[in-house]
Amino acid sequence: MAFVKVSDILKMADKAHTSAMAFNCVDFNTAHSVIMAAEKLQKPVIVMLYPGHCTDSRWTTPAAFAPMVISEANKVKVPVALHMDHSSDFEYIKAAIDCGFTSVMYDGSMLPVEENLKNTKMVVDYAHAKGVEVEAELGWVGFADNEKDQNNTDMYTSPETAKRFCKETGCDSVAVAIGSAHGYYNKTPKLDLDRLQQINAATDTPLVLHGGSGIPDDQLEKAFTMGINKFNVGTEFLGLYFKTVVEYAEANKHDPKHIILDMAIPVQDALMAYLHQKMQLSKM
Ligand code: 13P
Repeated sequence: MAFVKVSDILKMADKAHTSAMAFNCVDFNTAHSVIMAAEKLQKPVIVMLYPGHCTDSRWTTPAAFAPMVISEANKVKVPVALHMDHSSDFEYIKAAIDCGFTSVMYDGSMLPVEENLKNTKMVVDYAHAKGVEVEAELGWVGFADNEKDQNNTDMYTSPETAKRFCKETGCDSVAVAIGSAHGYYNKTPKLDLDRLQQINAATDTPLVLHGGSGIPDDQLEKAFTMGINKFNVGTEFLGLYFKTVVEYAEANKHDPKHIILDMAIPVQDALMAYLHQKMQLSKM
């Protein structure tokens, strides 16, 4: 029974002065690879579902995804947690909780701070009453294809605001804007580690780093000792999945009989090799 709450894993990360790893998954191939890599390395892991990856119910749904991950998690010894990534829709969050998600993210980062605070608190009160945890976002972690999102320090998280925001909302973790952004970077990011240290000093709430694809390892290693306890990766993991599927299909197009099922093996091997390397960054 290794299915645990995100907070159990974040506490372990905090104790070890490092970050837990969290991966955006879309199906069995991705979720199974993450859980198997964690078991092999004996490191806890967080499996995340991003609502944008289930806007068409033929792709996947929270109701299909949650029990699949819980079932796979309970087959291994290493702690595995389940998290619903970015949503700013309270009704969607309520439905995800009903499907079995024990951790959700309410993302009010596009709103003025007071509105973000008010909405986050409302989601926290609702979720906590159901035993579910909430990650919030303060500041704006934008998109890597827009360099302004990455460099605009006006949108970075303010340590003073973080102190009040975490205290008043009661959120279980908070995503901070310190120079990372979602997607493939045009320019190598430079994390504002001084600001990270100030945010970490201002609040005891575990800090989350989004936009994990493409941040240099030396910056991550430092950030993981400065209060980042959850590290989100999506783009490069899913990009590798796509690349491996395309290559396998191309190489086997003249022998299509078992292609769909057989493909799982090389695909999961490639994902596991990537995960093995990425997860070494976590010192748990
Ligand atoms: P990337 O897709 O840039 O790795 O970011 C993932 C993320 O932050 C998910 O919340």
